[in-house]
Amino acid sequence: MPVLRSAFIALSRNRPLRNFCEKSRFGRRMSSRFVAGMEIGDALRVAEALNHQGMTATLDSLGESVTSETEAHQAAEIYHSLLDWIAAHKLNANISVKLTQMGLELSPELAEGIAERLVEHAAKTRNFVRIDMEDSSLTQVTLDMVRRLNARRDLRGTIGIVIQSYLYRSQADVEHLIADGIKVRLCKGAYKEPAEVAFPRKADVDTNYMKLTRMLLESPIYHGLATHDEAMIAAAKAFASEHGIEPSRFEFQMLYGVRRDLQRRLVREGYNVRVYVPFGREWYPYFMRRLAERPANVLFLARNFFRR
Ligand code: FDA
Repeated sequence: MPVLRSAFIALSRNRPLRNFCEKSRFGRRMSSRFVAGMEIGDALRVAEALNHQGMTATLDSLGESVTSETEAHQAAEIYHSLLDWIAAHKLNANISVKLTQMGLELSPELAEGIAERLVEHAAKTRNFVRIDMEDSSLTQVTLDMVRRLNARRDLRGTIGIVIQSYLYRSQADVEHLIADGIKVRLCKGAYKEPAEVAFPRKADVDTNYMKLTRMLLESPIYHGLATHDEAMIAAAKAFASEHGIEPSRFEFQMLYGVRRDLQRRLVREGYNVRVYVPFGREWYPYFMRRLAERPANVLFLARNFFRR
C-alpha cells in the first residue's frame, strides 16, 4: 500500500485530530469539497438538485464507531427523519448506513435491532437501505445481518450490501449474495487491510473488480457499480452491451464532489447514476479516506481554499 495512502488512513483514526478538525471552521470549509453540509436540509437540497440533473442519490448521515447506545439511537433517528423527508418531498433517494454507527461494536444485537427498524421504515415508504461495508473485521457480521434481514419476506429487496473487490473472499460472497437475491454495491475498498485478507497490488484489485462486475451484471438483480475509474466503467459498459444487458438493469455510483464531469457524461449516455451524498458534523474519517484515495486532493483543496 503506498505510504501516503497508509498515512491518511492512519490519520483517519486519530481521535484528537478528529475532534480538533471537526470543531474548526477551517476544517469544515475544507470538508465541503466532499461533504454536502452539516445539516439534513443540506443533503436534501443536494439530492433534489441531483434529481433535477437526472441522477439519484444515496444519503449518508456521517458517523461511525459510536461509543454509547444513546448515540446509536440518535444516529438512527436522523435516518428515520431522512426516510420521512424523502417520501414527503418525493425525492429519488435512498439511505446508506454504517453498522458501527448503529452500535455494532457495542452489541451486534443492538445494531441489528436498529437496522431492522430502519429497513421496516424503508419498506413502508417504498425505499431502500444500503448497508455500507467497513473494515474486514466486520465483513462476516455485516453479511450475516443483511442476509437475515433480507430473508424476512416483508423486507426482501429493501436492504442491500457493499462488496469490496480488494478482499480475496469477495468472489465467494458475491456468489452467495446473488443466490440470495441481494442487491450489491461493488467498490474497490477504502480501508487499510493486511495482505492475508486483501490484494496488496492495485492491478489485482482492479482485475477482481472487473471479474465481480461481470458476475453482477449477468445476474438478474439490480446492482450498483461504485467507482470513478474510467477503465472499470468502460469495461462494464462494453460487457453489458456485448451481452445485451440494458443500461436500465444496473447503475453506476459515485461520491459527491468526485468526477462530476463523468457523472454528467454517463447520464447523457443514458446510464443510471447514483451519487453518494454524505452530510453531518462527523465528517473527519470519511474526508480522510477520500484524501487517502487520491493524495493529490490535498494540493487541489489547498489551491481552491486560497482561491475562495
Ligand atoms: P481508484 O481509487 O482506482 O481511482 C480511479 C480514479 O478515480 C482516480 O484516478 C481519480 O481520477 C478518481 N478518484 C478516485 N477517488 C477519488 C477521490 N477521493 N477524489 C478525487 N478523485 C478520485 N468503500 C468501502 O470500503 N465501503 C463502502 O461502503 C464504500 N462505499 C462507496 C460508495 C460509493 C458510491 C463509492 C463511489 C465508493 C465507495 N467506497 C466504499 C469507496 C471505494 O471503496 C473506493 O475507495 C473509492 O471509490 C475509490 O476507488 P475508485 O473505484 O474510484 O478507483
